[in-house]
Amino acid sequence: MPTSVRLEAPAKLNLGLAILSQRPDGYHDLLSVFQAITWADTVEVASIDEGIHVGCSDPGLPTGRENLVWQAADLVRRSFRISSGVDIRVDKRIPAGAGLAGGSSDAAATMRGLARLWDIPAGDEAWLTLCAQIGSDVPFFWKGGTAIVEGRGERVTPLRERGSLAFVVAVPPVQVSTAWAYRQVSPPFPAASAYRRRVEALRRGEMNLSEFCRRLENTFQHVVEQHYPVVRDVRESLLASGATSALMSGSGSAVFGVFDSDDRARSAAQSVEETVGGRAMGTVVRVCRTAQPPTDGSRA
Ligand code: C5P
Repeated sequence: MPTSVRLEAPAKLNLGLAILSQRPDGYHDLLSVFQAITWADTVEVASIDEGIHVGCSDPGLPTGRENLVWQAADLVRRSFRISSGVDIRVDKRIPAGAGLAGGSSDAAATMRGLARLWDIPAGDEAWLTLCAQIGSDVPFFWKGGTAIVEGRGERVTPLRERGSLAFVVAVPPVQVSTAWAYRQVSPPFPAASAYRRRVEALRRGEMNLSEFCRRLENTFQHVVEQHYPVVRDVRESLLASGATSALMSGSGSAVFGVFDSDDRARSAAQSVEETVGGRAMGTVVRVCRTAQPPTDGSRA
């Protein structure tokens, strides 16, 4: 058995997001295509005698029970009656409060790391159930790559035909709380019938990812842009720089533009960096690609 395991924890983009209904448990049923991207934190887990110790490169983030990584380790220890402790180091690169789900990805990476570290003989379904207990976005990261995500986030259908796309991800200098964003939307939700049809075409392999990304929608976008006009500024600047489409990821504040090639994405990123000003000053701009599913730990 290894004494420590180090993993990449990628960010995700929502290639469209439709809120379908409010559930009796207070959560919402959604339909989205999640895409892991090449912007990642690093998580390292190592066995220690006892307890759960979390160290994080970002001193602004909590390292106790509030941290999803701590919660993931605690759940794994309790579920599989593991007596040894764990030391977890998180090297943070993904901005928080941006709709990129860095904390959820760190939690899933912790579980994958612990599965290997402690050689836990559980199947995919068991791990997915544990992931869903930590947060709605966590199950996706157990699978990674490109996946259709439904329900509260626990129904994850990986796409076999994965495209390779370039993105410019721009994170405006505001943080949006996911719980707040959900409180701003209320039934009746838009029918999203065009988006549903396109997701079904993608599922059946009748549409490739690049074509799918030409028309995207996000139920949160309007309300978040109303409260945070800087998000609209940044999205418009991505469109002006030649993105085939530009959309907010999750509940924001990150916005991404889709590009046909790395070269186009790189020059667009430069033009966005040069042109965003005023309230968008301080926007972090990054060129990313689609990331492949993890090959470690996950026992698919
Ligand atoms: O599951 P998670 O803790 O990440 O969710 C954060 C908040 O977002 C929840 O408290 C809930 O208000 C909202 N949420 C929701 N429906 C989802 C996912 C999240 O209402 N599918």
